[in-house]
Amino acid sequence: AYVNGRYCDLRDAAVNIEDRGYQFSDGVYEVCEIRNGSLVDLPRHMARLKRSLSEIRIAMPMGEAALAAVMHEVVRRNRVHYGLIYLQITRGVAHRDHAFPSPAVKPSLTITAKSLNFEKNQAMAAKGIAVITVPENRWPRVDIKSVSLLPNVLAKQQAKEQGAYEAWFVGSDGCVTEGSSSNAWIVTKAGTVVTRSAESGILPGITRAVLMEVLAALQIRLEERPFTAAEAHEAAEAFVTASTQIVMPVVKIDGKPVGTGAPGPIALKLRDHFHGFSS
Ligand code: PDD
Repeated sequence: AYVNGRYCDLRDAAVNIEDRGYQFSDGVYEVCEIRNGSLVDLPRHMARLKRSLSEIRIAMPMGEAALAAVMHEVVRRNRVHYGLIYLQITRGVAHRDHAFPSPAVKPSLTITAKSLNFEKNQAMAAKGIAVITVPENRWPRVDIKSVSLLPNVLAKQQAKEQGAYEAWFVGSDGCVTEGSSSNAWIVTKAGTVVTRSAESGILPGITRAVLMEVLAALQIRLEERPFTAAEAHEAAEAFVTASTQIVMPVVKIDGKPVGTGAPGPIALKLRDHFHGFSS
């Protein structure tokens, strides 16, 4: 791990109990896929990180190039070929007080990397996942990739307890916003891919943005608009996207099959093509 300026064994990696990330969830994070030992779409993750930090008024702990170098070093030291890197920045360590520390303290930066089993992820995609729907109960600023994830944690646990893999949040208008840790998509019977616009109560996913380029290149129609859970039930296909899942077909929503009940051809095609477009 990398913790505030030094590399150490993961078992020795620790932060101060007065870190504001620990006390207030006062921080942001990024998760980036590692593929063939390199960081997938790093510039986009970096741009989103900078935006998240600026929205909650935390300074970048170091320059972008230096940060990228540290991230690559963490990947190298962990010898990760396929997996993910987790980066967290908090407002730093100070005696507990809700308002920002004054004068400002140094932001805390921690980075870890872990290997994942690619074959396991492929097998999951071949089978497809089940999702449940839960009421949207998050704050309106879900565009910030904040470490404050309690509603997401509770939703994911509920999904797990109901034998599903992901939970989709549904707003008071009946429309799906996104998953607890992924963006939500459907494919209509006419073959149009539908997902909510990035400016409407979702985290602007990096996988989502790259996938839009894949859709354009494959000349698959895209509509950016909200869809209801009922429309998702009637859809030909559904899938989720996230750095850790790439494109993951959804075969069941609230216990009812989507389309044929098997991973859809468009979802699988998009999954196949994805890494030709990420950088
Ligand atoms: N989550 N929406 C939410 C709420 C998320 O937490 C994530 C990612 C996404 C997809 O974003 P991206 O394509 O940039 O990964 C959408 C990460 C993987 C996590 O929390 O582990």
